[in-house]
Amino acid sequence: MSATASAPGKIILFGEHAVVYGRPAIAVPVLQVASRVTVEEAESGVHVVSSRGSRTLLPGDLNGDDPIAAILRHTLSAIQYPGFPNITITIDSTIPVAGGLGSGAAVSTAVARAMALHLGRTLDAATVSALVYEVEKIHHGTPSGIDNTVIAFGRPVYFMRGRPIEMLIVPRPFTLVVADTGIAGLTKIAVGDVRRSWEAGRERFEALFDRCGDVARRARALIEGGRPEMLGPLMNENHAALREMGVSCAELDTLVGAAITGGALGAKLSGGGRGGNMVALVKSGTEAAMAEALLRAGAKRTIVTEVGGSFEC
Ligand code: MEV
Repeated sequence: MSATASAPGKIILFGEHAVVYGRPAIAVPVLQVASRVTVEEAESGVHVVSSRGSRTLLPGDLNGDDPIAAILRHTLSAIQYPGFPNITITIDSTIPVAGGLGSGAAVSTAVARAMALHLGRTLDAATVSALVYEVEKIHHGTPSGIDNTVIAFGRPVYFMRGRPIEMLIVPRPFTLVVADTGIAGLTKIAVGDVRRSWEAGRERFEALFDRCGDVARRARALIEGGRPEMLGPLMNENHAALREMGVSCAELDTLVGAAITGGALGAKLSGGGRGGNMVALVKSGTEAAMAEALLRAGAKRTIVTEVGGSFEC
């Protein structure tokens, strides 16, 4: 008997960093990449198999900060499983690591779901999201909760910290090209640097966060009003604010510039920044040419994704 579950990647479309400080943000699943986890019976202990190799977790390891051990601990506690299961967890992920696409949260999501299923339980999206948030806290310090939410629900979200989750209605799908700088973006470091800058200059940073929050609100109205082709200037404005926060880098700015020169409707960095991915909004039918232009400008890989679908796990 084995159980399998998957979870998609994600990008932040508007409002990263400001969302940590209570402003709204918009995130969408990236359905072209996913983490897939299979859990099956083992003779004894917990074995974890992934592209990084295989290892065994002992009961004592469950108390530690290892991300797989942590999601196991929280999931076992949520389903009130008595004792320590004998299982092999096989992780297969096509989500690039440290690219701002939510690879860690997606693996945690798929592990929680597959393990619960294997042990005869199903967890709803809100419960999975809350479990994954506990793991995100270990690794990201002060996460807003947007990554675990969009990945566990697998649908576009309008997210505000501490508020009930709101799914975004997307009456007219739109096309994005996501491009990877190839530089590992360390979200925890970027978030920590923004916090230090905010502490040193609260007024300036509160104004920047307000700008991003305002952009996210206006973007929501355009998306839900069926006018996604108007989002471009808001993406450019959000990128400018993120640059002022100090979370862009030369490679991200080059790709954003190349996207605009190449005819994108708008472009911005996505996620923690300082590397990782950027995202460009394009007219349907121009995505292949845009992906080519971004590769020529130095992108290490591109993903074309359409916003408007949902992920079936
Ligand atoms: C990371 O995907 C988005 C950030 O806003 C951090 C967070 O929301 O936890 C940079």
